Amino acid sequence: AVPASLTAAATLPAIETPVISKEVTVLFGSQTGNAQRLAKGLSQQLEGRGFQVTLSSMSDFKPANLKKISNLLILASTHGEGDPPDNAIQFLEFLKSKRAPQLDGLQFSVLSLGDSSYEFYCQTGKDFDLRLEELGGKRFCPRTDCDLDYDEPAAQWVESVLSTLSAAFEAPTSSAPAVVTSNGLVTEQSTFSRKNPFKAEVLENLNLNGRGSQRETRHLEISLEGSNLQYEPGDCLGIYPENHPELVSTLINTLAFKSDEPVTVNKDGEVRPLKEALLYNFEITVLTKPLVEQAAKFSSNPKLHELLKPEHEQELRAYIKERDLLDLVEDFSPWEASAAEFVSILRKMPARLYSIASSSKASPDEVHVTIRAVRYEAHGRERYGVCSVQSSERIKPGDSLPVYIHDNPNFKLPTNPELPIIMIGPGTGVAPFRAFLQEREETGADGKTWLFYGDQHFLTDFLYQIEWQKWLKKGVLTQMDVAFSRDTNKKVYVQHRMLEKGAELFQWLEAGAYVYVCGDEKHMAHDVHAALGAILEREGGMSPEQAAAYLVAMQQQKRYLRDVY
Ligand code: 2AM
Repeated sequence: AVPASLTAAATLPAIETPVISKEVTVLFGSQTGNAQRLAKGLSQQLEGRGFQVTLSSMSDFKPANLKKISNLLILASTHGEGDPPDNAIQFLEFLKSKRAPQLDGLQFSVLSLGDSSYEFYCQTGKDFDLRLEELGGKRFCPRTDCDLDYDEPAAQWVESVLSTLSAAFEAPTSSAPAVVTSNGLVTEQSTFSRKNPFKAEVLENLNLNGRGSQRETRHLEISLEGSNLQYEPGDCLGIYPENHPELVSTLINTLAFKSDEPVTVNKDGEVRPLKEALLYNFEITVLTKPLVEQAAKFSSNPKLHELLKPEHEQELRAYIKERDLLDLVEDFSPWEASAAEFVSILRKMPARLYSIASSSKASPDEVHVTIRAVRYEAHGRERYGVCSVQSSERIKPGDSLPVYIHDNPNFKLPTNPELPIIMIGPGTGVAPFRAFLQEREETGADGKTWLFYGDQHFLTDFLYQIEWQKWLKKGVLTQMDVAFSRDTNKKVYVQHRMLEKGAELFQWLEAGAYVYVCGDEKHMAHDVHAALGAILEREGGMSPEQAAAYLVAMQQQKRYLRDVY
């Protein structure tokens, strides 16, 4: 469903009738590649209409050139608690700083990608939009904020940008009118995509943890035979999971609906029995503010209407963060909605993205992923990660899973196989590095490789242990440092190992090594970043500012790359 905030924004009139020049600059800030792909598609359409387009990552764009631009299109995603993508950080900081120039001659429009279950939904896009206006820019099309299911609102924004620019620009168009493709402007080689996933057979499903571990990590091997799907190390596999059958049944019973009641599941009007719809088509484990607001239409429970009052914003945020749809249904009954009305307010089931743990050169027609089961107790009930617990409990060899390849342009091996790489990936963050080493082994790459890995216990949690040892022996892996956090009294993490090896690590950096970080964003990646800074200060004799600038430069050169979540 299109979020309410979007519908409101999209119906606002354009602020001013613009005078448009032929040049358009399209800048993207993208972590996992979605904004980047949309920017590319938009640029192609603009070129088709005779515009001269400059397409660039924000990190490659020289802010000094801003003054020379008359038309700017920004496509930016938002991460975690409102954070900009790595390649947008510097540009946004520049715009917010005193160094930013007046932009009176600039016309702009912003597309933002985000997830409405987060408080700072689409914050990066909002920041750009506001700041460009403050600097004197004219917004020629209103900003569009897109939720997880971004294809349609993004296509609408593209349409309105194209028509506004074209209407104001009276040169003859050089080609047929552009068609906004339904698959988010992507030209895919395989016919299978996010919108049309491939039903892939599961070949293997193993638990990588030993008996007695607190962890359960599944290694899935999936067949891509017959799909024509291609991937490279660093890419992700998108999996459409099913909700937990028990949770679905409880939800249906609590609402006193019937399992076989037909409901509409998408905009094409496809109809399915309620139970199937809740298993496969809709998200029921995450709440968003727009969802709670819409649900309030169906409940006269005063507690819910109270919670939605502006003065209770923080309580609402806390509630949304920790509860699911069943909590909402139980906490704020009675409900006066039909099954069809009820599902109409739910978000579409989003695919889960997993970093691919294999190289197709080593396993042709296969893709491997590493999935850690998420289970925890909260508010009197056991809670499950949707895809991870499905993998743990209900996926058997021979079953099929709807999958697609998510190309991640921001996490690729260096094109020069001689360059050294440093890989930091505790826990399941190690997955893409298995793909990297398989690839380097298959291609006979010469560059040195260094892996930092960690988990709780050496004996039970050393994921893919035998494979690393094999690669160490063969020299595919030059060195490996491990940190098992719960084998000793004092916690040791990957960043402690990095600091211990700081002198050597600094030499690698100076020799042009690429640094890859994969795994937890909030704690691990943050602490690893700090450790890199500390190493630069200590070993390179840099000031904190110089160390920070060194890391920014590495990011700009695309040799400090992160796949964090
Ligand atoms: P812990 O569970 O003992 O806290 C993979 O999850 C590994 O990452 C575990 O060993 C985990 O340790 C560790 N880990 C937890 N927080 C971390 C942080 N801030 N930085 C690096 N590793 C961390």
